[in-house]
Amino acid sequence: MTKTLPIVSAAILASLLGAGWAQAAETAAERGEILARRWCAACHVVTADQTTASSDAPSFFVLTGDRARTAAGLADFLLLPGTTHSQMPDLHLSRVEIADIVAYVVSLPK
Ligand code: HEC
Repeated sequence: MTKTLPIVSAAILASLLGAGWAQAAETAAERGEILARRWCAACHVVTADQTTASSDAPSFFVLTGDRARTAAGLADFLLLPGTTHSQMPDLHLSRVEIADIVAYVVSLPK
């Protein structure tokens, strides 16, 4: 089960970020930035202009540079954050929201 999860998540991500979404007015990364500002910024630094956040939560700019934070890895984590990191709340994001947030995170400069 756990072994198939990254593959399934990658497939979901690929389909969500694929051709069907090119028609949308905004990009996935732009939608993800809006979601990140709304739901993640209380604890994480999510944009370059953000000045305050919780000291326990890693900046999104750090996440992008880490080899473990591949798009599929981030998506897996956001589906079930409580299973690996007790400090990070499960925000009950939908798969579409997760795909958008991941697109935003991976778009950040490393
Ligand atoms: C209530 C505070 C809080 C909120 C809100 C929050 N986080 Fe976190 N997050 C944390 C903390 C604290 C950690 C570090 C937890 C740890 O390493 O155990 C963390 C860790 C992470 C990590 C790193 C996981 C890893 O593998 O080390 C990612 C990715 C992440 N958060 C993404 C998000 C995203 C995306 C959102 C918004 C949808 C979000 N977080 C909202 C507190 C929060």
